[in-house]
Amino acid sequence: MVAVLLALPTNWVVPSVRAAEGPLAPVNLRCEYLKNPVGIDVRQPRFAWVLRHTERAQMQSAYQLLVASRPELLAQNKGDQWDNGKTLSDDSTQVVYKGKPLESGHSYWWKVRYWDKDGNASEYSHPASFEVGLLSAEEWKGQWIGGANQLRQEFNLAEAPRRARAYICGLGYYELRINGAKIGTNVLDPAWTTFDKRVLYVTYDVTANLHPGANAVGVMLGEGWFKSRALMLQMDIELASGKHVSVTSGPSWKAKNGPIVSDSVWDGEVYDARLETPGWDLPGFKDDGWMPAASVKAPGGVLSAQMMPPIQEVDSMVPMALTNPRAGVYVYDLGQNISGWVDLHVTGPRGTQVQLRFSELLYDTGMVNRENLQSGYRDFVAAKARDIYILRGDGEEDYRPRFTYHGFRYVEVTGYPGTPSIDSLRGHVVHTAVKTTGSFAASKPLLNQIHKIVRWSDLTNLHSIPTDCPQRNERMGWMGDAHVSAEGVMLNFDMAAFYTNFVRDIHDVQDADGTVTDTVPLRYGSRPADPAWGTAYPLLCWYLYEQNGDRRILEENYAGLKKYVEFLRSRAPDNVLRFSYYGDWVSLETTPPAEVSDFYYYYDTLLLSKMAEVLGNTADAASYAQRAGQIKDAFNKEFFDEKTGNYTTGTETANLLPLFLDMVPEKSRETVVSNLTYNILYQHNTHVTTGFIGLRYLMPVLTRFGYPDLAYDLAVETTFPSWGYMLANGATTVWELWQNKVGPSMNSQNHHMLGSVDTWFYEGLGGINVDPNQPGYRHVRIEPQVVRDLTSVSATVGTVRGDVTSSWTHEPGVTTLQVDVPVNSTATVSIPKDVEIAEITVHEGDRTIWEKGRFVEGTPGVTAGKFAHNQVIFEVGSGHYSFRVDGK
Ligand code: BGC
Repeated sequence: MVAVLLALPTNWVVPSVRAAEGPLAPVNLRCEYLKNPVGIDVRQPRFAWVLRHTERAQMQSAYQLLVASRPELLAQNKGDQWDNGKTLSDDSTQVVYKGKPLESGHSYWWKVRYWDKDGNASEYSHPASFEVGLLSAEEWKGQWIGGANQLRQEFNLAEAPRRARAYICGLGYYELRINGAKIGTNVLDPAWTTFDKRVLYVTYDVTANLHPGANAVGVMLGEGWFKSRALMLQMDIELASGKHVSVTSGPSWKAKNGPIVSDSVWDGEVYDARLETPGWDLPGFKDDGWMPAASVKAPGGVLSAQMMPPIQEVDSMVPMALTNPRAGVYVYDLGQNISGWVDLHVTGPRGTQVQLRFSELLYDTGMVNRENLQSGYRDFVAAKARDIYILRGDGEEDYRPRFTYHGFRYVEVTGYPGTPSIDSLRGHVVHTAVKTTGSFAASKPLLNQIHKIVRWSDLTNLHSIPTDCPQRNERMGWMGDAHVSAEGVMLNFDMAAFYTNFVRDIHDVQDADGTVTDTVPLRYGSRPADPAWGTAYPLLCWYLYEQNGDRRILEENYAGLKKYVEFLRSRAPDNVLRFSYYGDWVSLETTPPAEVSDFYYYYDTLLLSKMAEVLGNTADAASYAQRAGQIKDAFNKEFFDEKTGNYTTGTETANLLPLFLDMVPEKSRETVVSNLTYNILYQHNTHVTTGFIGLRYLMPVLTRFGYPDLAYDLAVETTFPSWGYMLANGATTVWELWQNKVGPSMNSQNHHMLGSVDTWFYEGLGGINVDPNQPGYRHVRIEPQVVRDLTSVSATVGTVRGDVTSSWTHEPGVTTLQVDVPVNSTATVSIPKDVEIAEITVHEGDRTIWEKGRFVEGTPGVTAGKFAHNQVIFEVGSGHYSFRVDGK
């Protein structure tokens, strides 16, 4: 190449060669974890970008970030808001805005370029944008109004709008309509919060929906979790001349109940199409019969921007079967348990009432079995889980509900005029529309099926908060469920904004005494939370930190977390925390709940000391580390029997919890491990007996202590209790219980928490692990578990720094491993040695990197190699690697 270039005339430009080599423009620009967010209320938002480079082992040595108030300025490389110049730093995530103060209702454009480790600069990225919502309470000019479930207002614009934004908080749920059209694709908005602490508003760009002259805005309100209706709306419009006008909710609005006769999250919607008021959301509508909107009490909470992906209809489904088990009763089968609703297509006489009832199960007769819509709590009435549609009778009608959702696979239709066909109904999958970022596939089909039902359960339980289940009279933010699944969910989907919001929800329920609640927002359960539920507060903060390098979540919550840990301490005078309500919930064998609570007391204290260390609070780091040591000693004194090597009842959970956190005295560790494996292998013939708490740590513990094959055997088991057993019995989502129950109470077919095994699919089998000392995948540990009859596994995690992939194949004597490490990250790659082979050789691409027991230097990106614990271990920089291990 050099020779060729020398032969060229000096004025010869070779742009294609230059453009294709070296540092490439950053991509995937994010602001507060979101792509081009509209309406954020963070004064110092954080930026992140993903780097690309054509060479291996590349890093960012510096970056330049420009933020401009107009796109034209940015195009001229002018950052009038912020230009940090060439800043020496390898930070490509969590970069905090430090420019001029951001203003409410303004848009900003930004881009970034970087210098690689050799000082070569990339091109600037494509521009990205972010918009600021209303930063302070005084900027809200509207009033809270209600009085009916339809509210409307007309207004005139003297000129065409240049820029218009609508800020809306419509509780419990809203649908915003302007000039006859629904605005945006959000449904079941806004997110559920502790309404007297905080309510969320959503910002829409409505410039294209407005025009000069008469305009109309209409808002439909549902009750949702707020159980009442209240609207706050502000439309800020900049006209072509630069003049500003605002349209705000207030007493001049008109109100009238529309076709939604009743709506409830649990019970469904009753919609009487005869009550529709066509044209109500258009200008010129005769609203004579409408009353002035009532001013209503403010919900009480501060108005904050909703900064996470909205709930949306993410997919639709054609039913796979339609049956007619009884005269007049039609049952549709979607073939998949989902959360969402159906739309109904119907023609018939005015006033005909069609009822849709939803279920997860069928009786043998083909009728829907709805016995499990009642939770275990007797004081809760079972969810009605039905929608009723009353026809207008003027031809073809389509109905789908707005302010409810159901968890179901089957839909029973009664009252249908005539005979419905398979096309009379479509299913719509509705949940928080997070982006899929991870993937997992293995040569064993059963693992892929488990992964699939876990994904379904995870997704269908994202409804602005992580819910426990989507069907019965719960759907609440049970904190225990939330934390056991969180890591797996983070590995599969882009979750940072969602959990950041949920952590704030937890912070909002915290009392001055440090207590949090079992469900967040608190709808049921206790304050203080069961410690195995309350631990979601520290754990979610920590997972966000590990996965994204998010220091701010630790900063913002440190005081709250400290209060929480101090509360636990106040209940543990002798350093043992015993109180508990649920313990190792849904387990098959009982572990004393006090052991579970105390385990989390230790865990939370330990995490607090680590967080203090991250934040540079060395005094707290030391004192909480010391206290954690005392708790550990007390735990062992209270729960450990040195003679038998068992903790408490010696169940799987009892022994694995202390192993997970290295609480077991070193001299007894092997005995405890062997008690655990003996219990699994011989006392339970290789079956799980844990509840969902113990389960979260079971596979990691077996793997870490040398039994990944046993973890695998548990994962692929097909008899009771196992995931294979669920699948063999028709599960399309993960069950709440290990048992196959179809009767009344507590046997949801869709609870995500037993799906925590998916975390191990990524971290164990795929081997992709975050390094907590270099969080946000700054350094990655790739340690795939090559087990039993598995011949291949392929896993990708879409990290904040780019995709990390680990993809391996295995046949006796030969292991191959493909690895992707993002630019600006490094990895330690450990490949297990086959027992058959005495002396291994390792190739990377066509180079030899390990031979005769020695690392061979000289391969780009591979900086070191060693052999330890029956693995050959390489240190690598960024890039794609293709390893092959064989030998004699
Ligand atoms: C919920 C759970 C929750 C539990 C608390 C149940 O009714 O559905 O998943 O964690 O209560 O024990």
